Amino acid sequence: MRPKFYLFALCATASWLTAENSRADLVATNSFSIGTKNFTLNFEVGHDGRLYQRAIGATAVNEKLLRTDESYPQAGDGYVWEPALQITHADGNTSTSLIFDNLTRTTDNTGREITQIQLHDPAYPVQVALNFRADQARDVIEQWTKIVNHESGVVTLERMASSSLVFAPTNVHLTHFFGDWAKEMLQPITEPITPGTKVLDSKLGVRADQFQNPSFVVSLDGPPQETGGRVLAGSLEWSGSFQCAFDDNGENIHALCGVNPFASAYHLNPGETFTTPKMIWVWSANGLGDMSRKLHSWARDYGMRDGHKTRAVLLNNWEATGFDFNFNRIVGLYDPAKEIGTELFLLDDGWFGNKYPRVNDHAGLGDWQPNKKRLPEGLAPLASEAVKRGLRFGIWLEPEMVNPKSELFEQHPEWVIAQPKRALELQRNQMVLDLTRPAVQAFEWSNISNILSVPDITYAKWDCNRYLTQPGSSYLAAGRQSHLWIDYVTALYALMDKTAKTFPDTELMLCSGGGGRVDYGALKYFQEFWPSDNTDPTQRVPMQWDYSYFFPPMAIASHVTHWGNRPMHFACSVAMSARFGMDLDLNKLSAADKAVCAGAISAYKQIRDVTAFGDLYRLENPHETFRGAINFVSPDRARAVMFAFQLKDGEATPVHPQGLDPAKNYTVHELNPAPGRAAIPAAGKTFTGEELMRDGIVPSCAHAVEASVIEISS
Ligand code: DGJ
Repeated sequence: MRPKFYLFALCATASWLTAENSRADLVATNSFSIGTKNFTLNFEVGHDGRLYQRAIGATAVNEKLLRTDESYPQAGDGYVWEPALQITHADGNTSTSLIFDNLTRTTDNTGREITQIQLHDPAYPVQVALNFRADQARDVIEQWTKIVNHESGVVTLERMASSSLVFAPTNVHLTHFFGDWAKEMLQPITEPITPGTKVLDSKLGVRADQFQNPSFVVSLDGPPQETGGRVLAGSLEWSGSFQCAFDDNGENIHALCGVNPFASAYHLNPGETFTTPKMIWVWSANGLGDMSRKLHSWARDYGMRDGHKTRAVLLNNWEATGFDFNFNRIVGLYDPAKEIGTELFLLDDGWFGNKYPRVNDHAGLGDWQPNKKRLPEGLAPLASEAVKRGLRFGIWLEPEMVNPKSELFEQHPEWVIAQPKRALELQRNQMVLDLTRPAVQAFEWSNISNILSVPDITYAKWDCNRYLTQPGSSYLAAGRQSHLWIDYVTALYALMDKTAKTFPDTELMLCSGGGGRVDYGALKYFQEFWPSDNTDPTQRVPMQWDYSYFFPPMAIASHVTHWGNRPMHFACSVAMSARFGMDLDLNKLSAADKAVCAGAISAYKQIRDVTAFGDLYRLENPHETFRGAINFVSPDRARAVMFAFQLKDGEATPVHPQGLDPAKNYTVHELNPAPGRAAIPAAGKTFTGEELMRDGIVPSCAHAVEASVIEISS
C-alpha cells in the first residue's frame, strides 16, 4: 500500500521559546491523531514547529500548548524536565530542537497501520522518526523511535526513549511489580503519581527484571479495577537495562520508557541509525480484565511463538534429581512419565562438561559436550529412548555463561564481561560471556545449533543465571564501553532469532534463574517462560495472577513440585491454570498422589484449548481475599473453566464466573475432584449463563490449600 503523506507548513524559528512554559503564540497549526478503536493519541504541531501531544485523560482541551505538552521532548533548548531525547552533537553542542516534518501512514503485512512522524533539527542534521503501529481491534499501540545521524562526525545519544506519552495529572495511579529471586512479581504496588519523577528501572544488563519489571499499568481513574475504569498497560520489549520514568511536572505527566540511559551513552557514526526497542501500550476504558484480554489476544498473534498451538504436558527433572543423575536414572523416569500422561521430558542442568564435570553449579558451564560418565553415548540415545516411549525430549542450555572452572575459561579468559583491575565478581559461580565479541557470538551459536540438531530434541529451556555487575568488555574500544548494555541485548536477540528460525519446530522456554527475563522483547522468540523457581502453589496463585495482567497463561510455565509441601490436588489445580507441567520424581510418588496427577493431566488435556485460547477473567484477587478465582471462556463462549484456589480457611461461598453467554445453557461439573471431598452442589446440573454469572457456583473448597476446577460446557 502506498504511504499517505502529509506535509504541514512550518515555522522553524523555535529559538525564542523559553523554559517558562509560555502560552503566547503556541496555538496549533495542524493536528492529527493516531488511534485504535477506543484509544486515540492526539498530536498538534505548534506555530513553533514542535510536536505536541494532547494529554491522555484531559477533560477540557486547552487551546494553548505548553512546553510541558511536548510529545517527545529534547534536552538542551528550553525543556527543563525529564527529556525523551538527549544528544551531544559532533561539535559538542548539547542541545537538540526537533521540528515536525511530515507524517506517513502505511499498512504492514498484518494489516496494522504504521504511522511515522518525521522530525528534524534545523541546526543539526539529525533526523528522528517516531513510529506507531496500531492494532485497531485490540487497542494496542506499539511505539518506537529511530534516530539517524546525518552529521559529518559522531553524535552521542545520552537518552533515547522509545515512547513518552503525555497524561493529564488527574488521579493517575501507577501499578508496578517489585520482586526478587523466588518472589518475582509478588509485590504489586499501586501508588498515585505525584509531582516529581518516579523511576522504575533495572541496571542488570542481560536481563530486564529481577527486582523491577518492565511491565506496569497506568490507571486514570484512581487505583485500577478489574471491571471498570480507564487503564493503560505498558510493557517494554527489552531484555536489558530499562528505564520507565513517570515525570509529573505539575502540568502533566510524561511516561518516558526505553533503554536505561544509565551508563549507556551510545555513539552514532555518520550515517548510522539507532532504533529503540518497542514500547507496547494497551488501552481499556473497562478495567484490567478487558485490558489483559486484549493484550493476551495481541500476544497470541504477535508477541510470542506459536500462540495458536496448545502446549504439551511437560515433565522436568530439575526439582526431582537436581544435578544427581545419569542415563539410567533419566530413562527410568520415562515410563512413569508416559503412564501418568505427560508428553514431553525436559532434561535440565548437569548433562555436560568432562574435564570439569557439571555435577554442581561450580564447574563446567561453557563446555557443552555431554558428560561421558553420565551419558556415555551423548544426548541422542536419551532423546531416542524418550521418543520410543512416546515422549518428546527437551534439553536445558545456558549459552551465555561460563564457570571460571571450565575448559572454555582456560582457553578464553578474555571472553568474559569483567572490569580489568577488579577481582572477578561471580554470581552462582559464573560469569557472562561478552556477546558483543563476534567470536563469542559464533561460539554460542555453534553450541546452540549443535545441541538442537541432535535428533529428536524438540524443546529447549534457555537459562541465564546471573546479571552484570562489572560491565567491562575487552572487545569494545575504550570509547565504546558504554555500548555494552545495548549491544549485548542486540546480539542476544540476533542469536535468539536465528535459533527460532533455524529450529522452527523446536519449542523454547525463556528462563533466567527463575523469572529474570520476562518481557516481550525476548518472548517473541519463545513459546513460553519460566516465571519463578518458586513453585509453592500458594505463592504461584498470586504470582500467576500478577503475570496474567500482561502475559497469556498459555505462556506461563507452571509446574507441580514439592515446594511448600502442599497437597498434590492443590498443586496440580494451580498448575493446570497455566501451561501445565511437573517437576517430580514420579518413582517416589505415592500411588494416591500419582492418581491425582494422572487425573489432573487428563483433565488438563480436556480443557487446555480453553485455557490457552480462551478469554481470562480474574474473579477474586488472591492478594486481597482468602482465595483466588479465575475463569476462562472459549472464543465461541460454548465452554468455560473456573478455578478456585483456597489460600486461607473460609466459607465455600459461590464464585461468580464472567464472560459466559447469558442466554446459553451450560452444564456444570468438577474436573478431577479431590479424593474424599463431597461433590459440588451444582454438579451435573444445567443453568443459563445469566444464572451462573448472577448466582455463582459453590466450589468444593473451603479450607486452606484446597482447590476446585469446574468445567462449564454448553
Ligand atoms: C535456574 C532455573 O530457574 C531452574 O529451573 C533450573 O533450570 C536451574 N537454573 C538449573 O541450573
